[in-house]
Amino acid sequence: MFMTKKDISVYIHIPFCKSRCFYCDFVSNLKNEKEIALYVNSLCREINNNKILKEFKIKTLYIGGGTPSFIDKKYIYKILSCFDLNNAYEITIETNPESLTLEKILFYKKNRINRISIGLQTTNNLLLKQINRKHDLKTFNEIYFVAKKYFKNINIDLIFGLPDQTLEMFYRDIRYVVNIKPTHISLYSLKIEKNTVFFGKKLNLPDEETERKMYHDAIGILKKSKYYQYEISNFSVKNFECKHNLIYWTSKNYLGFGLSAHSFINNQRFKNTSNFYKYIKNPLNGVDKMTTLTNKNLIEEFVFLGLRLNVGVSKFNFYKKFKIKINEVYDKEIKKLKKEKILIENKKSIVLTKLGFDLANYAMSQFIFD
Ligand SMILES: C[S@@+](CC[C@H](N)C(=O)[O-])C[C@H]1O[C@@H](n2cnc3c(N)ncnc32)[C@H](O)[C@@H]1O
Repeated sequence: MFMTKKDISVYIHIPFCKSRCFYCDFVSNLKNEKEIALYVNSLCREINNNKILKEFKIKTLYIGGGTPSFIDKKYIYKILSCFDLNNAYEITIETNPESLTLEKILFYKKNRINRISIGLQTTNNLLLKQINRKHDLKTFNEIYFVAKKYFKNINIDLIFGLPDQTLEMFYRDIRYVVNIKPTHISLYSLKIEKNTVFFGKKLNLPDEETERKMYHDAIGILKKSKYYQYEISNFSVKNFECKHNLIYWTSKNYLGFGLSAHSFINNQRFKNTSNFYKYIKNPLNGVDKMTTLTNKNLIEEFVFLGLRLNVGVSKFNFYKKFKIKINEVYDKEIKKLKKEKILIENKKSIVLTKLGFDLANYAMSQFIFD
């Protein structure tokens, strides 16, 4: 019998970078060409042997890292060739300014990639050095305008709350980015993660009040320039939200391939190994962890992820998925958070307030079942 295929999103992890940024704890390695070739072979083996992929239509694909633009385009070609992308409407590649070239931009365009994400982080050359970035503003500026010539949809990553960053420095970052008109801006608050150069170091970080001012002022400046916030850290001009990331935040199915990649499919969560050599040797045995989520787990995740969004958690979608009203499950918690001005409720949804976004971890912890 003819079966209509369901939609799916695909994430591909490229765990390579030329150098490691001092704040970064993403799974990435500084490897040689031979190891990159071995990795891509294993990645393609993993993809080609995946049984469930064939049951789905790929709608979005995201090549993340690490730094996918760091590896030769022949590898990207090989990876893309593993997929049927005829139904895909958003194909993103993460890049950084020093590894992106005109040749790569033309190649990405020719091979159906239609969204480029560039890690600028800050426009201040001194701060860039201090976080161990290898580009300066001039390098970024030059390649950005080349990319803009060929790509309509470009994201820029910025980090705020960097060591030694002042409000003035940060305003310059925001104004600069707004002026060059990308379609999307990701604005991350610096997190000091374990296993990074910054961890345990004495850093001159902005105090909490300044850090929050950076965030709220940025939201205001961006709004004036028609960049709408749709998630805690993400802003876009109308209709240019990242469709791939929206899949994560609305608890839809996705498959992840490569080192440490996660998948969420039919209420099961899988995580691939983070051990490079184990993955290279046998990518088909690479699943480290499989968790079948209970209904309670699914409800918790649905709410945490939904609360990251400016539209919040839709009551209708909650009911559709769980066959019970969100107010029946979380009556006490919703009332408490409303009283604390962390959450607002309307007919259609529950949404974090401005204060709620600042206290997002606390707010989300209220939705965990005992
Ligand atoms: C997976 S990283 C890829 C970055 C890309 N390879 C590059 O070199 O620009 C995606 C983004 O996460 C953000 N990020 C990474 N670590 C972070 C941290 N500790 N705190 C805040 N943002 C972080 C950065 O903005 C970064 O561009």
